Amino acid sequence: MNSNKKTALITGANRGIGKAIAKKLIRKGIRVIGTSTTQEGVNVINNYLKENGFGIVLNLSNIDSIAEKIHEIYKKKYSIDILINNAGIKEDNLLINMKDKEWNNVITVNLSAIFYLTKSIIRSMIKKRQGRIITIGSVIAHIGNNGQANYSCSKSGLIGFHKSLALEVASKGITVNIVSPGLIKTDFTKTLNSKQYLKYLSKIPMKRLGCPEEVADAVAFLVSEKSSYITGHTLHINGGMYMI
Ligand SMILES: NC(=O)c1ccc[n+]([C@@H]2O[C@H](COP(=O)([O-])OP(=O)(O)OC[C@H]3O[C@@H](n4cnc5c(N)ncnc54)[C@H](OP(=O)(O)O)[C@@H]3O)[C@@H](O)[C@H]2O)c1
Repeated sequence: MNSNKKTALITGANRGIGKAIAKKLIRKGIRVIGTSTTQEGVNVINNYLKENGFGIVLNLSNIDSIAEKIHEIYKKKYSIDILINNAGIKEDNLLINMKDKEWNNVITVNLSAIFYLTKSIIRSMIKKRQGRIITIGSVIAHIGNNGQANYSCSKSGLIGFHKSLALEVASKGITVNIVSPGLIKTDFTKTLNSKQYLKYLSKIPMKRLGCPEEVADAVAFLVSEKSSYITGHTLHINGGMYMI
């Protein structure tokens, strides 16, 4: 093991935005531990990472397994210098029809799991007096959306969490930021029908969806030394769909 190499843990690295981030970080010489909910996903991760890291199975719905998985990584003598909370889900329904399960699943994976994962890692970052935590938020945290009260709530909850944590660890050499995408071409947006697609497109001044690589570039910047004085920030990547 090359101990000079930094290690990044990226949740949901088998496809979409997480995979693009992983590919970007390995090109910068960072070792990646990527997660997927399935062994097939882990195989995908191992195939593209090759000698630059490895995949592990992690299901964030299973809150109790999170600390255990992190402990396994530490037992293998890897430290986690960079945490990328990328994995996320949506289970849309109008509030009037939203089932408890739809609410709870989304809050658990998109918000509570980030608390547990970050808590498992932050102590070792504090000890090393260095670290980067970057979480993938969403434009929907800022503008809301029909049928996404659960998703919007989970992603806006992250903003307060990250600002508070940023304050707590700012003097310890750790930065804590959110990258907030608009509409990005991944499996996440594949389910849009053409009417929904055109409706969203009409709200994007750049008149196109973003690419996973465009989100990954922002993450790579926040991981780099060039962003050393940025913390508690939300960086929007949305083609002008939402401006503060
Ligand atoms: N695409 C967009 O337009 C868009 C816009 C704004 C924000 N985002 C956010 O960007 C992030 C990545 O989205 P994406 O577009 O890349 O989505 P995606 O292509 O659907 O990929 C989702 C990833 O999350 C993982 N995942 C799902 N459920 C999980 C669970 N219970 N535990 C652990 N991992 C789980 C999946 O792993 P498996 O395949 O192994 O299940 C997969 O790697 C999400 O947080 C999403 O909310 C996306």
